[in-house]
Amino acid sequence: MIQFDKQTNTLTLHTAHTSYQMKVDEKGVLLHTYYGKRLRKGDLSRLICHEDRGFSPNPYEAGTDRTYSLDTLPQEYSTCNVGDFRPTSLEADFADGSVAVDWRYVTHHILHGKYTIPGQPSFYDEGLTAETLEMVLKDAHTGLEVTLLYGILEELDLITRAVRVHNGGETPVALTRVMSLCLDFPAGKRDYITLGGAYAREREPVRAHLTQGTHSVGSVRGTSSHQSNPFVVVCDPDTNEDHGSCWGAALVYSGNHLIEVTGTQFDETRLIMGIHPFHFRWQLEPGDTFHTPEVAMVYSHQGLTDLSQKFHRGIRLNLCRGTWKDERRPILINNWEATYFQFDADKIVSIAQTASQVGVEMMVMDDGWFGKRNDDFAGLGDWNVNEHKLPGGLAPLAERINALGMKFGLWVEPEMVNEDSDLYRAHPDWALQIPGRKPTRGRSQLVLDLTRAEVREYIKDNLRRTLNSANIVYIKWDMNRSLTDVWSMGLPAQRQGELYHRYVLGVYEILEMLHQEFPHILIEGCSGGGGRFDCGMLYYSPQFWCSDNTDALDRLRIQYGTSFCYPCSAVGAHVSAVPNHQTGRETPMHTRGVVATGGTFGYELDLNKLSQDDLDEVAGQIAQFKEDWEVVMRGDYYRLTNPFEPGYYQAWMHVSQEKDVALVSVVMGETHANPIRPLLYLKGLNPQEDYELDGQVYGGDELMSGGLALPVQKEHGAVQYKLTRV
Ligand code: DGJ
Repeated sequence: MIQFDKQTNTLTLHTAHTSYQMKVDEKGVLLHTYYGKRLRKGDLSRLICHEDRGFSPNPYEAGTDRTYSLDTLPQEYSTCNVGDFRPTSLEADFADGSVAVDWRYVTHHILHGKYTIPGQPSFYDEGLTAETLEMVLKDAHTGLEVTLLYGILEELDLITRAVRVHNGGETPVALTRVMSLCLDFPAGKRDYITLGGAYAREREPVRAHLTQGTHSVGSVRGTSSHQSNPFVVVCDPDTNEDHGSCWGAALVYSGNHLIEVTGTQFDETRLIMGIHPFHFRWQLEPGDTFHTPEVAMVYSHQGLTDLSQKFHRGIRLNLCRGTWKDERRPILINNWEATYFQFDADKIVSIAQTASQVGVEMMVMDDGWFGKRNDDFAGLGDWNVNEHKLPGGLAPLAERINALGMKFGLWVEPEMVNEDSDLYRAHPDWALQIPGRKPTRGRSQLVLDLTRAEVREYIKDNLRRTLNSANIVYIKWDMNRSLTDVWSMGLPAQRQGELYHRYVLGVYEILEMLHQEFPHILIEGCSGGGGRFDCGMLYYSPQFWCSDNTDALDRLRIQYGTSFCYPCSAVGAHVSAVPNHQTGRETPMHTRGVVATGGTFGYELDLNKLSQDDLDEVAGQIAQFKEDWEVVMRGDYYRLTNPFEPGYYQAWMHVSQEKDVALVSVVMGETHANPIRPLLYLKGLNPQEDYELDGQVYGGDELMSGGLALPVQKEHGAVQYKLTRV
């Protein structure tokens, strides 16, 4: 609900449990006055401190009032070069060489339904009573106008923001920084949490106490990256999983991004989020409009678990799209770690044959099926079936897989080209590179210039041809390097700074084509594992290969970090072989299965190489997951421990929305002789109801307050408990 109070000039956006308030002050400046627990009424601008602060200058129209300064007022969208020295929301080079922008209120509109962003992913309002607030601000001197867009998804407790920038002046403007979010907090001590990491160590939570100054993380890799996920939480220092205020923001974007958390001179916090300004320069001709990506915001006064669950629900139901978004995904087996590039049709069928006998539902053929792709030095770009490996093409193989009662899925990496490919030999200028410089290689491949329509059409045609050539119901869309040598033949010099963003728009355009023309196909996103695991990609692919690291213990950390923002329904998680290919570690098959049930569940190994015992275990895991998938996918997720801290065990649980089923998963840590027997305290159950576990009945309150006694287990052994309400 959006409330406009004409008397106080406040606009208050209400979701089920939160309120967000802004106020147009007497000078037309749009102040941010509140974001927190839901309020009944009030003008929170009364809390703003008005004092004459040294070196905080005053707008001309403030006259002799030295207490009025943009430097000390909380802003909805900060200005540039007119007296606010905290991070700017927008920077632009104007024709006269000036860079100042001073936003003043023009008008606002309250609309039914949620806004969309042309060519870009965003949350949608299906099944909700959504509203949009358009807040129009203008810099009178230059005519530059911003429309701040707010989407209120009341039932989800989610508010989205995006910005439309319009050049209403008479000369071109170059935008050099346009943030999607500026959020000012009142004075107070705060922490912030970001998701850092690296390849094979994605989304490691980093929590820091905010001190004075600007602390920034982000990506300039052209993708959202393994190293810095576009998600941030600001919270009170004592906020934990179950208690305390926290504000989360997720950027719905898959390219370069910037997160800036600033502790100001007066201990306030400013949070900024948007496209990274590195090599960003968007030429806006008079009359032109630029659209930023969207940010989704959640506030909780009940700690991090509640915050995460709100993101999970919103992403699962109102960001992910398509036939598969809320459906049980086929349990798949992928041949990558089983064969790498060394396979042929018979090998794929032999893996599928055994898989079909234990209940696997889909065979996914990974990298190596096309062109001269026998290693990772050649073939990318040539999307013709390698007939030496797969005589007759994809159709006969898909038929053989289908004859086993399984679906067939395929790996693709459409954004890339190898120099050793027919495509590159024909069109070397289709790869990103700067004339006269040797391009930087990543995994021996170059990046195709998706800003060019002919390149996008080539990719679309090849995808259409491939997908129409056989009965393919799934694709894994991979992307295996960062962008460098960012320069396009297709753009004039003054527009090269648009390339990074135009690249991302190009990816989205191709994915949208797939969504429209092949709605039945399940897309799993991937970027060397979880290098582009973000809300932008999840709009097109409801699941994402979480990491190339399939080690069960490392996965505990990766899935834990991922869970701060992203739902289990999006987490591609597979059981792989031991010794693990990434870490060399041996973990029991049962443990690997328990860990993989934290996501979409599948396999990544050659089942023919397993012992009969392990194969029986696999058959049991699959049968179990077919029973349990709903609570994993649609239930609420609880982090019971933090795997970055040493413990006797690591545990998490899923509880159905109705609280009638819960699945508790535990992986033991190091074992020591004469072991300590820790208790496990459950969460999320109905304290008033009873639950059955292995023939015994326990109260929900009892399990949460008294706990469960864990059995003695071998090192890295695992247990899984299924509780059913009686
Ligand atoms: C990186 C992916 O994350 C892997 O799962 C696999 O598909 C390889 N690429 C194939 O090249």
